[in-house]
Amino acid sequence: MNNLSTDDIRQTYLDFFKQKDHTVIPSAPLIPENDPTVLFTTAGMHPLVPYLLGEPHPGGKRLADCQKCIRTQDIDEVGDESHLTMFEMLGNWSLGDYFKEDAIKMSFEFLTEVLEIPREILAVTCFCGDDDAPKDEEAAKIWIEVGIPEDRIGFLPKEDNWWGPAGQTGPCGPDTEMFVWMPDSTSPDGLRGASEPKGNPETNPQGWLEVWNDVFMQYNKNADGSFEPLKQQNVDTGMGLERTAAVMQKCGNVYETDRMAPIMEKVNELADADDLTHKRIITDHIKAATFIIADGILPSNVDQGYVLRRLIRRAIRSGRRLRIEADGGFTPMIADEVIAQYGHIYGNLKDKSKEIRKALSNEEQQFGKTLKDGMKQFEKAAQSASTEIDGVTAFHLYDTYGFPIELTQELAKEQGLNVDEKGFNKSFEEHQEKSRAGALQKFSGGLADHSSETAKLHTSTHLLNAALRKILGDHVYQKGSNITAERLRFDFSHNEKMTPEQLEQVEKLVNKAIEEDLPISYHITTVDGAKEEGAIGVFDDRYDNEVKVYVIGNDQITFSKEICGGPHVARTGMIGKLKIKKEESSSSGVRRIKAVIEGGADEVEFAEED
Ligand code: SER
Repeated sequence: MNNLSTDDIRQTYLDFFKQKDHTVIPSAPLIPENDPTVLFTTAGMHPLVPYLLGEPHPGGKRLADCQKCIRTQDIDEVGDESHLTMFEMLGNWSLGDYFKEDAIKMSFEFLTEVLEIPREILAVTCFCGDDDAPKDEEAAKIWIEVGIPEDRIGFLPKEDNWWGPAGQTGPCGPDTEMFVWMPDSTSPDGLRGASEPKGNPETNPQGWLEVWNDVFMQYNKNADGSFEPLKQQNVDTGMGLERTAAVMQKCGNVYETDRMAPIMEKVNELADADDLTHKRIITDHIKAATFIIADGILPSNVDQGYVLRRLIRRAIRSGRRLRIEADGGFTPMIADEVIAQYGHIYGNLKDKSKEIRKALSNEEQQFGKTLKDGMKQFEKAAQSASTEIDGVTAFHLYDTYGFPIELTQELAKEQGLNVDEKGFNKSFEEHQEKSRAGALQKFSGGLADHSSETAKLHTSTHLLNAALRKILGDHVYQKGSNITAERLRFDFSHNEKMTPEQLEQVEKLVNKAIEEDLPISYHITTVDGAKEEGAIGVFDDRYDNEVKVYVIGNDQITFSKEICGGPHVARTGMIGKLKIKKEESSSSGVRRIKAVIEGGADEVEFAEED
C-alpha cells in the first residue's frame, strides 16, 4: 500500500479520472450560488444538480473534481476519528454516460491498483431492497466479478445505501459504499477492530471505515412518493479525502494525516490541558471557519454567518477547556496554520489571510469578553435547575453573552440537563429575530431547488446585471447572488449609493426586457471565447475551460450575455414583473439590491442550447 500524502491522493485521483476521459472541473465555492435551499455546499454533487437533472454540462458527460464541503449535521460527532465539519470530497460523475459496471470497476481499480489497498482489507455494502426498489443484486454481482468475496458484501437499507433525491422529488437511487478495515493497531485511541478483518459492515460495523460512495441515480421520485425508473441514468460518487489519507498513512484517524496534524500540533502547543476531543474540535472548526471566511462570509446572526459564529464560538469554548486564553490571538494563530497547509491548493485562503485573521480576532475578542460571565450565569442556572434550563435563561445567555443555543444545549447535556428550546424560540421571536429560525430551516432542507420560481429569479439577476451596467457603467460586476423562493439579492461593484432615479431607470429597463418577451438560449464555448464575444462573468479560477454562455435577446438586440451554469427560463415574458425593494451598501465598494418578482408563469419552460 502506498504511503501517499493528501496532496498526492488528490492529484492521483484527478489524474486517474482524467485518463478515463473525465473533464476535471474546479471546486465550487462553499456558499452555493442561486440555491435557496441550503447554506453550504455539502457534497461534490451539489453544484452539479442542474446537470444531474438533465442540463448539458460544458465539460461533457464525464466529470471529476475535488470539492470543499461543509456538513454541520455531523457537528456532534466531530472529535471522533473520522467526522469533520469541513472536508474535501473527491468525486467522479457520469451524466447519462457509464453506469454501474464501469463505475464499480473504476472505483475498484483506483483502490487496488493505484492506491494499492490490498483487496483483503476491502468490503462493500449494497442496497438491500424494499417496497420502492429491489435489492441491488446487479452491483453485488459486479463486485464479485472484480474480486470482492461474497462475505465482504453487506446489504443495508435506505438509511445507509440510498442517496437523494436532491429535493422532495427528482433523481435518486441505490448506492454502494466502500470500506477499509482499520485494525486496532493503527489507532492510538482505540479505533476499530481486531488485526484481522472480520465480516463486512452489515455483520460487523465495528472496524470498517467508509471511504467512498458510488450512487446510481436510476430512479425518479415522484411527488406522490413513488419511484419510477429514470431515462438518464447518472453516477455520482464521493470519496472522503481526509479519510483516504488516514488509510494510506496508516494513522487511524483524520487528525493525524499530514495536512491536519500540523494544525493539531499548533493547538497542542497552546493548550495547557489534555483533552483530545476538544483539541480536535478546535482543529476542525477553525479550519472550517477559515475556509468559510475566505469564501466571503463574516460571523453574524443570520444564515451562513450564524453557522460560522457558532463554529468559532464552539472552538473558543473548547479552547477554554484547554485553558487557552481567548483575547483575540488564539484562533488567528490556528488559522495561520490552516492557510499554510491548504493555501497552495485553495489560493483564496492566502489572498484573504488578512480578512480571515481580522474576522477571527474580532469574534474571539467579542466572545472572549462575555464567555466567562456567561459561564457563571450558566452555572448558576444549572445549579438551580432540576431537569431543564428554562427558555428565558437560554435566551438571556444568547442575547447578553453571545451563547449560541447549541452551545447552551451542549453545556446542559454535560450536566445531564435539557434546555427548553420552545421557550427559547418564544423569547427569540418576541425579540423579532426570525433570521436564525430561517437559517435552521434552510439548514435542514434538501439540496438544490430548481423550481420555476428560482429560474425566474435567476434570469432576473441577469437582466438586472445587464441593466445596471447600462445605467451605471461598465465598472459594474456581479459580486454575489443569492436567491430564496421569495426574493433575489444581487451584490455588485459600485462606489456610491444609487439615486432613486437610477433605481427607477434600472427597474424600467428590466421590465421593458420582460415585456419584449426576449428569448433565452445558451451555447458552449471556452473561457477565452466567452471573453472575446463580450460575455460578462467573474473570470476567476472557478470556471472550467469550457463554459456556458446564456444570451438574452433576439435578432435586433442582445440584452445580456453572461457566463452561467443555468438553468434559466426560455423567454423573459415568463418572469412577470420585477420590483426593486431595497438598495444598500454590502461592503466597501459593493452595493446590494434586493428585488422580488410578481406574476409570471406558474410553470416555466427552461432555456435550451442554441
Ligand atoms: N452524493 C454522495 C455522497 O455525498 C456521493 O457523492 O455521499
